Amino acid sequence: MLQKKAVTDLDVSGRRVVVRVDFNVPLEGGAVVDDGRIRAALPTLNYLIEKGARIILLSHLGRPKGEPDPAFSLAPVAPALAALLGRPVDFVADTVGPAAQAAAAALEPGGVLLLENVRFCPGEKTNDPEFARQLAALGELYVDDAFGTAHRAHASTAGIASYLPSAAGLLMAREIDTLTTLFSDPARPFTAVLGGSKVSDKLGVIQKLIEVVDTLLIGGGMAFTFEAARGNATGASLLEKDWISTCRGLIDRAQEHGCRLMLPDDYVIADAFAPDANTQVVAADAIPEGWMGLDIGPETARAYAAALAQAKTVFWNGPMGVFEMPAFAHATRKVAEAICASDATSIIGGGDSAAALKVFGLTGGVSFISTGGGASMKLLEGAELPGVAVLDDK
Ligand code: 3PG
Repeated sequence: MLQKKAVTDLDVSGRRVVVRVDFNVPLEGGAVVDDGRIRAALPTLNYLIEKGARIILLSHLGRPKGEPDPAFSLAPVAPALAALLGRPVDFVADTVGPAAQAAAAALEPGGVLLLENVRFCPGEKTNDPEFARQLAALGELYVDDAFGTAHRAHASTAGIASYLPSAAGLLMAREIDTLTTLFSDPARPFTAVLGGSKVSDKLGVIQKLIEVVDTLLIGGGMAFTFEAARGNATGASLLEKDWISTCRGLIDRAQEHGCRLMLPDDYVIADAFAPDANTQVVAADAIPEGWMGLDIGPETARAYAAALAQAKTVFWNGPMGVFEMPAFAHATRKVAEAICASDATSIIGGGDSAAALKVFGLTGGVSFISTGGGASMKLLEGAELPGVAVLDDK
């Protein structure tokens, strides 16, 4: 359980509350195309509105270079949020300057103001104390509901808390509670599915999962470093040579812990990284030179689905193949469908797996989808999240 103050512990009525949200949402043609992260912040925002707080929202969007860049403006998010809240949302194309201060000061109780992308300011990513102080000066209380950015020690996620009484938002608390209880007393069998491109991004979480789960299913680009570790040729597939011996160690470690670590038996391979590439299905030890694996094969997908059907707890992070291209989406879909069809408690670790569920229209079939890809991985590997550590203790 989160040992930090929650927004419900603060007296917010009539007060100016600076709320850090993660509205880092995909945009297309100036409109929000996936509002999942905005919806996820609604419980906290509606709570604050009900209590008559004056709400000043801070967020980043994308990775601009510390200066204004119209491609990363939060302006399109304001109407999307207003539609979901059913009330106006003011937007100011300024973060800490006079226009932002004036708009924050002019808020009525229950009013909502969204400021421009905090990453347009150079002090955000460097966690500059002066910039953090300016952000804090916009309000009287600080609430962090940006779980997706809690693994970043930036001015709006960490530094700001030195200047204001602080608390976790309702989304932040729910994410932390769900992800930490996942490992404390899971119903068994507990099966985890890990995919995605790089094994090096997930070493910490793989080590942790090996200690906790009964079965660990590996797919995606990261499987090829395991293939190399078990002596198979990987052709032109993604391979992190520096991590081959680490993967060998993980295979041994799984055996020591009695964790059934499953690697693919077959792959869908292609002669180019392209949606219309020539493809074939081959055994895991028969990838020819010049060909690359872009999905795990149908036999493996069937075996993984069968393992998932037995599970009582499932954790999934990372697609099994390049699901954005229909020719390589089969196994990711099969895994997603198996998770939805099982009666297991299913926790999805955000990022690409959440995007895949959305593409397949399956978001309603799982128990919980984290809004933080990177943050959920950090939390599960046991790291302290800077955005949580700085909040006031209960
Ligand atoms: C995310 O999308 O994972 C979060 O919004 C964090 O974004 P970042 O990786 O650019 O810090």
